[in-house]
Amino acid sequence: MLVVRTIPALRQALHSGAAAAAPAFVPTMGNLHEGHLALVRQARAAVGPGVPVVASIFVNRLQFGPQEDFDRYPRTFERDCELLQGAGCDVVFAPDEAELYPEPQTVKVQPPAALADVLEGAFRPGFFVGVCTVVLKLFNAVQPGVAVFGKKDMQQLLVVRHMVRQLALPVQVLAGETARAEDGLALSSRNGYLSAEERAEAPALVQALRALAAAVQAGRRDFAALEAEAQQALLSRGWAPDYVALRRQADLGLPQAAGGASDGPLVVLAAARLGRTRLIDNLELPALS
Ligand code: PAF
Repeated sequence: MLVVRTIPALRQALHSGAAAAAPAFVPTMGNLHEGHLALVRQARAAVGPGVPVVASIFVNRLQFGPQEDFDRYPRTFERDCELLQGAGCDVVFAPDEAELYPEPQTVKVQPPAALADVLEGAFRPGFFVGVCTVVLKLFNAVQPGVAVFGKKDMQQLLVVRHMVRQLALPVQVLAGETARAEDGLALSSRNGYLSAEERAEAPALVQALRALAAAVQAGRRDFAALEAEAQQALLSRGWAPDYVALRRQADLGLPQAAGGASDGPLVVLAAARLGRTRLIDNLELPALS
């Protein structure tokens, strides 16, 4: 496995052969866990043998708000490289900030408000501008044919797909299933911030989502009340919920009040703080009849 730090070195490694195939790509911010490794294995399976799989490791300052955890975001580069090698990655692209942002980034990708200023975007202003801008730069550096994004960050996946479609980027975006611990907690680099007590409490987030999804599937259609109940359940356990929201999977729009097949598949998304740690999760629901 090759580790490269610069865009010219990456281009040299990937695109120097006459008929070099477009690589498969998994962008990450490092501090890898089984969820990331599953994305790398999915990337490996999506392209034939001999086609390189590239993972990037870059903690992107542009997507962190001023009060967020950029400085304390865990950096575990050596271990990440060992894990990536074991998962079948061929090239790690690990630029420093000066390589990816050699000058202030004044040209930015502005995703549409309806998709990017709601939910995560409402609580993390500028987050998806930062994500889209770095993902586009990484795509330009790697020039992948396929890129894999986890469903754990469902809104990010939808925003990136929208960008790819609107900018006609020649990249097929694949979605990776959310990896979960045995007790249901979605794997996340931020789980590492949790104390033992908080870690024991953390599965309550997915439990709240499951309860809401089960109520909808059992026929309840008072969606706003269900969202409020889920938030209240988290509040009463000591969480500070930002949102619990039932939305259309296609565009994160509100489902019709009575629900219906025309909404297509739904998704219930949540973000909540447990102590100092903000966790997000979501569950997909089939279309309602
Ligand atoms: O999901 C992430 O880890 C990041 O948002 C990404 C896609 C690597 C962009 O920095």
